[in-house]
Amino acid sequence: MRSSYAIQTFNLTKSFKGKGYEDWRGWTDQLTEIVKRRVKGERKVTVAVDHVDLKVASGEFFGILGPNGAGKTTLIKLLTCLLYPDEGTAIVNGYDIRKDRKMVKASSSLICGWWGTLFNRTVRQNLLFCGKMFGLDEKVANERIDLVLEVLSMKDKADELPWHLSSGMLQKMSLAKAFLVRTPIVFLDEPTIGLDPNVAYSIREFVKKLNGELGQTIFMSTHYMLEAELLCDRVAIINEGKIVAIGSPSELKERVKKSNILEIKVIGYYDALHDGLKEVSSSILEITESIEDPVIGKASVRVHVKEHENITQEVLGFLEDARCQVRYAKNMEPTLEDVFIALTGKRME
Ligand SMILES: Nc1ncnc2c1ncn2[C@@H]1O[C@H](COP(=O)(O)OP(=O)(O)OP(=O)(O)O)[C@@H](O)[C@H]1O
Ligand SMILES: [Mg+2]
Repeated sequence: MRSSYAIQTFNLTKSFKGKGYEDWRGWTDQLTEIVKRRVKGERKVTVAVDHVDLKVASGEFFGILGPNGAGKTTLIKLLTCLLYPDEGTAIVNGYDIRKDRKMVKASSSLICGWWGTLFNRTVRQNLLFCGKMFGLDEKVANERIDLVLEVLSMKDKADELPWHLSSGMLQKMSLAKAFLVRTPIVFLDEPTIGLDPNVAYSIREFVKKLNGELGQTIFMSTHYMLEAELLCDRVAIINEGKIVAIGSPSELKERVKKSNILEIKVIGYYDALHDGLKEVSSSILEITESIEDPVIGKASVRVHVKEHENITQEVLGFLEDARCQVRYAKNMEPTLEDVFIALTGKRME
């Protein structure tokens, strides 16, 4: 079955029996539950990818955004044939992930941290090995390696062993493989997780080049909202294995009204106020805070309101009763995190 899309999934589903984390909070209760289930011979079933239907156009920069355990990596593993689906299928670069698994693998590069790195070979040898696996001529491969190492500011690392590289450099080396072999589709699983802002920036710039100049379709998972907004043409939000919304970042943000987001700059705020503030009105969906100075309790508090209701006075009254000093309160433009909260009623992290 040929398809005009780079990726198309049909009811794609994958479950796991056995382990599975939900939340680290209350882990002792979870452990008790697991032991009880084991004694009874029951095994927990996690539907990691739940009847997913997606279409990704050729050349598109597509993002899959969701919290920990939402099913992002499992979806990528299904689409790169590292896992086999329980139900449904997907067509990747025109090949069925159930029937044409070799061709699916040859159509895409998967960049996932240091996976696939040969730690006893230098950076250049790693890249050359990868190029040869994809049938590249050695001369062409070496030219591309020189070019990509230059672009990624890694020329001086060409003859180093991966052991000596930082995690950012390792990630860059993995990305260089996608440039080298130029497969039509590149899968990136959380490409900037845990990296410092400068490295994350250069990785984003490089990935934009892969998409813009080489026309590679990018399928990227992330739980950084800003990263999705900066890079993606379209984003699918995934929660508990299900796609809850798809659209361009601006289309998704249009789903939430500015009047539903109230931001308050406050001094004297402390963590214990979170629960009390949530109780102020039943139309409050969630509260998110960013503490700028814990010593004086300088914080930016974002109140996500369910309906179009003005609860500013109640919220300010609560904060004043708690002896907080309110600097300002105003309605803000929604972000993708606000979209996630509006759709699921919970925060991303
Ligand atoms: N091999 C496995 N065995 C059992 N459960 C699994 C396995 N792999 C994933 N899971 C479960 O499937 C769900 C989805 O996991 P997945 O790794 O796809 O999430 P994720 O969105 O990539 O999360 P993260 O942001 O933490 O990487 C989780 O509940 C996880 O515990
Ligand atoms: Mg993951």
